[in-house]
Amino acid sequence: MKANLFALAGLILAGLAPHAATAQTAPVCRSSPDGTNALCVALDGDARLRWWLDRRGHPLIAPSLMGFTLTDGLNLVRGWTITGSETASGDDTWEQPWGERRYVRDHYNELLVHLVQAPDQGSRHMDVRFRIFDNGIGFRYELPKQAALTTLHIADEVTEFAVVPKGTAWWETGGEWNRYEQLYQKTPIDAVATAHTPVTMRLDDGTHIAIHEAALVDYAAYWLKREDGQRFRTTLAPSSQGPRVTRDLPFNTPWRTMRIADDAAGLVENDLELNLNDPNALGDVSWFKPQKYIGIWWNMLKGDWTWAEGPRHGATTQRAKEYLDFAAAHGFSGVLIEGWDKGWNSNWLGHGADFSYTRSADDFNLKAVTDYARAKGVKLIGHHETGGNIANYEAQLDDAMKLYASVGVNMVKTGYVADAGGIEAPGDRPGEVRMEWHDGQRQVQHHLKVVETAAKYHIAIDTHEPVKDTGLRRTYPNWVAREGARGMEYNAHGAYSNPPEHEATLVYTRMLSGPMDFTPGVLSLEGDLHVPLASTLAKQLGLYLALYSPIQMAADSIDHLAQYPRELEFIRQVPADWAQSHLIAGSVGEYAIFARQDRNSADWYVGGVNDATARTLTLHFDFLDAGKTYRATIYQDAPGITYLDDSRHRIAYATRDVKKGDVLTLWLAPGGGAAMRLAAPKP
Ligand code: NOJ
Ligand code: CA
Repeated sequence: MKANLFALAGLILAGLAPHAATAQTAPVCRSSPDGTNALCVALDGDARLRWWLDRRGHPLIAPSLMGFTLTDGLNLVRGWTITGSETASGDDTWEQPWGERRYVRDHYNELLVHLVQAPDQGSRHMDVRFRIFDNGIGFRYELPKQAALTTLHIADEVTEFAVVPKGTAWWETGGEWNRYEQLYQKTPIDAVATAHTPVTMRLDDGTHIAIHEAALVDYAAYWLKREDGQRFRTTLAPSSQGPRVTRDLPFNTPWRTMRIADDAAGLVENDLELNLNDPNALGDVSWFKPQKYIGIWWNMLKGDWTWAEGPRHGATTQRAKEYLDFAAAHGFSGVLIEGWDKGWNSNWLGHGADFSYTRSADDFNLKAVTDYARAKGVKLIGHHETGGNIANYEAQLDDAMKLYASVGVNMVKTGYVADAGGIEAPGDRPGEVRMEWHDGQRQVQHHLKVVETAAKYHIAIDTHEPVKDTGLRRTYPNWVAREGARGMEYNAHGAYSNPPEHEATLVYTRMLSGPMDFTPGVLSLEGDLHVPLASTLAKQLGLYLALYSPIQMAADSIDHLAQYPRELEFIRQVPADWAQSHLIAGSVGEYAIFARQDRNSADWYVGGVNDATARTLTLHFDFLDAGKTYRATIYQDAPGITYLDDSRHRIAYATRDVKKGDVLTLWLAPGGGAAMRLAAPKP
């Protein structure tokens, strides 16, 4: 007891608030490298483990429960004793093969806490590893090998985040039928229901936080469920098998993460989840080249052409060649052809068992198309829609990748169109089907199986209807992009169009998790039946800077793209791989302007997106190299235009010289955006 009191006194002197009222044992605490964030753990009066966090001496997270409920034994919640703890630190800078920035700094202090449960609670052992960064925290449960426990059957995880300061949250509902493709909501924090992560919160003192997870491997994704007030807890995506997660020991859970920043830029320019993932497991992945691509996609979404074979079949050899010609002429590296294979002919939603991944439609000659592509210096981008039937896909997976690799295809877009809970997985017995969730443990296993198989054939994967991104691109750099939010496709059908603030919300929510195949570049600004997008033309260009992906589509049909030669030239030039990226002006859900430097030249690009409110921004060009004069080509909303009428297409083009320290006044239209290229002087 004496020792505990001494420990408490020491912590108070050190400025770490120990929440003595709740802590029944001496808190074990650790601060971030510069002391900004201080995290403590202790046992409460019921010997339950709780963690809490102070930022600059003010409570950010109040004591929050940790542990698991199980389907086959006493819960891993009560009766703990802390048997010891260890500390470590890390400060490393590592290089990304591609990304928003080339170099990433990983700087943290670590605390590892060892626990054992009382004999009447099962005598089980568990460790919790915390990493405390200046701009966030992460922790994971580590279940060591132990005699009394060989397999953990997890009913649910009870990791709480009790947010102290009041504030506003941006979130989308977790666990609903449309997976991750719902509109984001903006509510007070205490009005969130059950949310997918990342959940973004701006606290009343201006602090920005985002709760998420890192390194989701062989485990279920979690939704963040509000218990009461501002107290949240994890709830794992379901499984057909009773336990939501089944794992043999030893194993580690994914990291539970929280980005913490003083402003919006600190939230966005934050590599917390990447740092908590394992290093590259694939070695040299220079066979993947960041790139831009086109496809026959928009016309199929609008209903002009069909995925299914028939008189309006989109994926014909002839049309593929036309698109390959256009790609070669305008500097696109890839052409995406969907509906090239057998199996689309019924109502494919719910009939994923019909898909073949090796047999082409009668009017599509894979060999002829890929030979033509090779001659043009362009690649065919492959497509595997599964309709959610992973039993059928996994059975053909190796053959499917082998076929594509044999004809030179090195990127495949996959798709899992099925309602939530509609993944059809193989069971143990022949013909047995297990219905799973897009974010359940089985589907998480499936995704890595696809990514690892693809890597074997030097193929990169772009997943649609995915599980959320948790930074696994660090370990598997061939998992280059995914959808996982409402993309451009929703604008193809007027009734479901994305609202004007959608993209400015994605920047601070979905995009925190990783690259998105949003598919910008609908320059005609219209979907089916000419229903307009909630966008100006400049915003379509700004999207290439606002929503990062190492693969960027120009989504419109080629006849439309051809009508906008100046914009097409910008899309040709804008990189998909950056040396550095900075949010130079932004506010969550309202606007976002980035400055990004090309990874392969000294050029900079600036641009981004606005919501429905016109605004004037003052941009400071502090990021440029001193002593250089850059030639700026500017694509800006013309004065007075709006996304609401035909003026949406008007762009004010300008060229001017800019230098470090210059200031630019930028007007953004309602539903507007901007893009500019700052060409460095030739060496
Ligand atoms: C939904 C995807 O998001 C879309 O891009 C694709 O074209 C269709 N599924 C068909 O696979
Ligand atoms: Ca989709």
